[in-house]
Amino acid sequence: VWSNVEMGPPDPILGVTEAFRKDTNPKKMNLGVGAYRDDKGKPYVLECIKKAEAQLLKENLDKEYAPISGAPEFCKASAQLAFGEKSDIVKNGLNSTVQGISGTGSLRIGAAFFKTWYEKSKDFYIPTPSWGNHTPIFKHAGLNVKSYKYYDANTCGFDFKGALDDISKVPEGSVIVLHACAHNPTGVDPKPEQWKELSAVMKKRNLYPFFDMAYQGFASGDIDKDAFPVRQFLADGHTLSVCQSYAKNMGLYGERAGAFTIVCSSSDEAQRVMSQLKILIRPMYSNPPVHGSRLVTKVLTDPALRSEWLKEVKGMADRIITMRQKLVAGLKREGSKRNWQHITDQIGMFCFTGLKSDQVERLIKEFSIYLTKDGRISVAGVSSANVDYLANAIHQVSK
Ligand code: LMR
Repeated sequence: VWSNVEMGPPDPILGVTEAFRKDTNPKKMNLGVGAYRDDKGKPYVLECIKKAEAQLLKENLDKEYAPISGAPEFCKASAQLAFGEKSDIVKNGLNSTVQGISGTGSLRIGAAFFKTWYEKSKDFYIPTPSWGNHTPIFKHAGLNVKSYKYYDANTCGFDFKGALDDISKVPEGSVIVLHACAHNPTGVDPKPEQWKELSAVMKKRNLYPFFDMAYQGFASGDIDKDAFPVRQFLADGHTLSVCQSYAKNMGLYGERAGAFTIVCSSSDEAQRVMSQLKILIRPMYSNPPVHGSRLVTKVLTDPALRSEWLKEVKGMADRIITMRQKLVAGLKREGSKRNWQHITDQIGMFCFTGLKSDQVERLIKEFSIYLTKDGRISVAGVSSANVDYLANAIHQVSK
């Protein structure tokens, strides 16, 4: 029956992990997928999550279905995390928030909603480059994926002029996808003043801001600072959407907890939007899983757990910064003549090294260091024990 089915290529990001697993070199490193490791290179379950889990166990909860839109307390806490405790949006019932299957699922619900209900345009503009899954997600929902300039390969930094130029030319009403913080894959974010200018241009031209906030807390170590763009755009009078993920900032990768929010102009509108979100979700997966969202709700709403979480997020962000510094120091020690300043300038989980695909190929083949073809490394996968090995390997392939 399936003789027509061709072998598909491995996933550009998750496929790297598959190749890594097959490698028997004891020195192998997986710098492909963005998943945090502790300084021993081990997956890290946050202490606040372990405590929340112990509390949940004691509560002896049932395993009934969640509502189609997810647990209301989870949705409320998620919206508050995005907009800030002081925001009136949740208080005034202006948000339609549903639980998504982590960041990907939240984006996918958002895409489905826009495909069905956003009448101004079906064009989604993503930065160049963007997370590898953005294009398939939006296309899968039937949207047109277009792009705007973002990364400047000469400076390994933000191409502000290019982004502004492109964004001021796209047709009115289009949707602009913005990485709220810790841009994936480049680790390059606009500065607050640049965000303000982008917001003003988009407002003037009636462009719709669609935020992907998968790394809140990971850029600066501070959840409020990282949500600055979302809050600034709201203050500037935009109505917008936000996709959230708890994979990275709570280490809940496999629990698939995330949220999708549309900010509406009245609570009546928000209720109508919510009713249609549910109609889209029901045939896709009926209702979301309960465990991850219970953990998130506990951590966000219990003051002691929340303050422990904030410290742990900062701890993760700080360890990554230390690894960036050690990597640059290691490259210097190796005698590299290249300028690696972007490694410490870039923020969040990833470093866009600037290595070319043949150099990436050599890192994989000769050193068993696995990364995505675009030269992105997940700095979260680097530890004190292997940072020098990495520095040596990068120097060998780039000298
Ligand atoms: C990544 O970019 O590595 C992460 O967002 C994980 C994923 O699903 O691709």
